[in-house]
Parts: sequence; C-alpha cells; structure tokens
Amino acid sequence: MYRTKIIGAGSIGNHLANASRALGWKVDICDVDPAALDRTRNDIYPARYGAWDEEIGLYEAGQAPKGVYDLIFIGTPPDTHMDLALAAVEEGPRAILVEKPICGPDLMGAQTLMTQAAAKNVAGFVGYDHVVGSACLRAGEQIAAGIHGRVETLDVEIREHWGGIFGAHPWLEGPHDSYLGFWKRGGGAAGEHSHGFNMWQHLAHILDAGRVVEVTATLDYVQDGRVDYDRLCLANLRTEKGLTGRVVQDVVTRPPKKYARVQGDAGFVEWHCGYRSGADAVVWAKHDEDIQEEVFTKTRPDDFILEMQHIEAALKPGAPVSPISLARGLDTMLVIAATHKSAALGRSIGIDYTRGYVPEALVG
Ligand SMILES: NC(=O)c1ccc[n+]([C@@H]2O[C@H](COP(=O)([O-])OP(=O)(O)OC[C@H]3O[C@@H](n4cnc5c(N)ncnc54)[C@H](O)[C@@H]3O)[C@@H](O)[C@H]2O)c1
Repeated sequence: MYRTKIIGAGSIGNHLANASRALGWKVDICDVDPAALDRTRNDIYPARYGAWDEEIGLYEAGQAPKGVYDLIFIGTPPDTHMDLALAAVEEGPRAILVEKPICGPDLMGAQTLMTQAAAKNVAGFVGYDHVVGSACLRAGEQIAAGIHGRVETLDVEIREHWGGIFGAHPWLEGPHDSYLGFWKRGGGAAGEHSHGFNMWQHLAHILDAGRVVEVTATLDYVQDGRVDYDRLCLANLRTEKGLTGRVVQDVVTRPPKKYARVQGDAGFVEWHCGYRSGADAVVWAKHDEDIQEEVFTKTRPDDFILEMQHIEAALKPGAPVSPISLARGLDTMLVIAATHKSAALGRSIGIDYTRGYVPEALVG
C-alpha cells in the first residue's frame, strides 16, 4: 500500500485521490487555498464519487507531512509544476507524477528536474493518461501486429471546446481567470490539449519511427488585452526515421473529436476517445476488408484508476519503460515549445535532444 500526497485540491487532484483510494492507497491532499480544500470535501469529491472519504487527509500547503510519502502527485496549474516537483523530489519518494503540460514553453526547470530526479533515484511520470488507457493499449497491439502494413502517415486530433473545463470550475469567470488563457503559462490549445502531441509521439514509438525532430506549426492566437492564448494549433511533425504526420489541437470544437489514425499501405488502425457516450474504441481494417471495431466502456474515474494501476506496475523491478515516464512528458514539452517557436518565426523548428530539455534544444 502506497502513502500518497496530492498537491492541488482541484479537478485533477480529486480524480487522482479517488483513483488512489480505489487501489487502497493512503491519501493526503494539500492546497494553498483553504476554499479548495472545502470544495473537495463538501462538493467535488462527494458529487463525483458518491460520498466524501473520511480516510483522506486534507492539509493547507506547508502543513502536510514531509519525507513520509511513497508517491507525490502535482495537480496544480502548469506554471507552478516545476518548483513543486523539485521540492517533491527533495522529499525522496519512490516516484512523482506531474500533471500535463509539465511546464511552460520556456522549459524553465525542465532539465534540472530530469537531472535531480535521476540523482535522487526518484521515478517520474507525467499525466498523459490516454496512452495507458485500454483503447490505446489495444490500438498499440493492432499496430504492433502490423494490421496497417507499412506506415504511410500518422494523424492525431484532440479537438475540444473548453466549455467543459469551465463547467467543472464554476468559480472561474473564463480563460482570463486561470492559466488556460495564457500560452506562456501552459494554457491554450497547444498546452492544455497536449495529449495530442503525446499520443502522436507514443504511436510513433510503437511504429519504431523514433522521436520528433522537426515541427512546422500554425497557431491562431487570441490576444485581447485580457488573454493571450492559442485557440487552434496545427502542427506537422517529422521523426528521426522520417515518419511525417500531423497533430491538430483546439479549444473550439464541439462536440469534441479525439482520435488518432495510423494509415499504412495495407490498412489503418484508429484510436477514438469518446467514440460514443462513456466509451472509447479501436477501429481497424485491411484494404478491401470490412471495418472492425472494439469498444471499451468506461467512466471518467476509470481513466485515472488505470493510470494508477499503470504506475504501480511500472514501479515493479524489471518493468518496461513507461509511456508516461518523465522523459516522454518532457519530449512532449519540447514539441509544444517548438510549436510556439515555429508559429512565431514562420518556419520549421528542429529538436536536438543531445542538448537536453532546454530552449537551446530548439534549433532553426
Ligand atoms: N490528465 C488529465 O486528463 C487532466 C485533467 C484535468 C487537469 N489536468 C491538469 O492538471 C493541472 C491542474 O488542473 P485542474 O483542472 O485540476 O486545476 P484546478 O484549478 O481545478 O486545481 C488546481 C489547484 O491547485 C492549487 N494550487 C495552486 N498552486 C498551488 C501550490 N503552490 N501548492 C498547492 N496547491 C496549489 C489551486 O489552489 C487549485 O485548487 C493542470 O496542469 C491541468 O492541465 C490534467
């Protein structure tokens, strides 16, 4: 049984707490805002999961115990992640999980976190939970089995109007009231919906196509004096082995569309999130054969229970490299940063991984 500290009593903090409790772990949640702790106990947790769980400890930030946790999860806004993650590593847990996106596009603190976590032997995870979901695991099996033949291209879309996020945060007036309305703080479509980049990179690894080395992007920014964010992010990607494809992320599409498609010369494999209400799916076909689908029913809490089960398995000796490892999350952060740089300069940006997780890794 793990002892877990969750920093941030917001939407994701509650999901991570519930999922950890579902696995029988001991949980403390802390937050700088006492109102957030009250909302967790009296509103969010009971409304989502049926009842408040008296076993969960609630602490104002700074009051929670230190140095006694196996796992520390950072579920706060992206521009606070790095300081909290570095402090968490100092506590010496077995692992930390930092929510996505892991930092701002300035990459401040990214390489330091990677170095410190390795030095302290603390495992790192980043909260890109889609890639450890049941549908994605099944899509990965179909791709590994070569249903598609030789890969031609890879396409991912995470397009979702962010009304749902504001619905879950009725105390926010709008994007100007949170990091969401500021791309430099990790908001906007490129940051908030970076599950898209991460899924593309994950599938590229399954296809043995290597890491993304070139990004060419067009972003549509909203700058009205109160906000500064990208509502639409279109990015063409190329990997070190030459796989070329596209990611679209936006905060305007409704109903949402979240899908990935591996197109090959013999067929295709697709991953769908929200294929129908309460279900994800994998869809595939070989050319000239009937389209087949496998549907995975799930609830939103299930997404995070699977993520916690994945972390538990990934911490076992001899476990394979996790697709939600710290390095993979930081690879995604490099692509987010390259996207903004490409949009600003109007040209393709290369990624040189030998330079580490620093702005100098973005070349061109
Ligand atoms: N993996 C997913 O699918 C998923 C889903 C939702 C949110 N997220 C991510 O989780 C993060 C938080 O999002 P949210 O919707 O839960 O936000 P939220 O606003 O609901 O909650 C964040 C909480 O963090 C607290 N906080 C801020 N600074 C703090 C500090 N220094 N110490 C302690 N607490 C602090 C705030 O008071 C707030 O209560 C974001 O990075 C977001 O992108 C991921």
